[in-house]
Amino acid sequence: MSTLTKGISMFIVSVLILGLLVMIVLGFMLGFGHPLPWVLIAVLVAIPFIHDKIVGRRFVQWDESYSVGIDTIDADHKKLLGMINQLQTAAHYKTDKTMIEDILNDLVDYTKYHFTREEGMMQDADYPDFDAHKKQHEEMIAQVGKFVDEYRVDGTKTIEEVAMYLKTWLINHINGSDQKYAPYLTKKD
Ligand code: FEO
Repeated sequence: MSTLTKGISMFIVSVLILGLLVMIVLGFMLGFGHPLPWVLIAVLVAIPFIHDKIVGRRFVQWDESYSVGIDTIDADHKKLLGMINQLQTAAHYKTDKTMIEDILNDLVDYTKYHFTREEGMMQDADYPDFDAHKKQHEEMIAQVGKFVDEYRVDGTKTIEEVAMYLKTWLINHINGSDQKYAPYLTKKD
């Protein structure tokens, strides 16, 4: 969500809250026994919960179906998802740009570290689809580098767009390509 979109959505929520408060006051003029102001109060109380639900949907949760059956790799994937959530939280609360860049740098560094670890395990297991898998890693790192430059240099990408790309790519990659190597790397001779 861009800063402008976020600003507009905050404005709409503020107007909605103000409108509800005015309607509650007017509703009580109908008498304390009238249901309208009480219904409006219930709507007002529900707004923060609805807001949290909408914001929460942007975050990604680990699911056991993502497991590749190798503890170290699962731990890496969990850590990466946690770092993406951290990046989205920092972006949502308009954290200082230096802090966002630190989180982003840590995330890219850990992603590279994870890819190197995973590629080593695939090579040790003589995984037949190693080259294609490694190429996907390289393309992802190149794409993230391009997006990060677009965020840092010319501002054509927002940090939320970068986080969304990372989240979508990682979930699809874990559930697709990473799941495919699982039987080879967990095979007992
Ligand atoms: Fe877990 Fe192929 O990245």
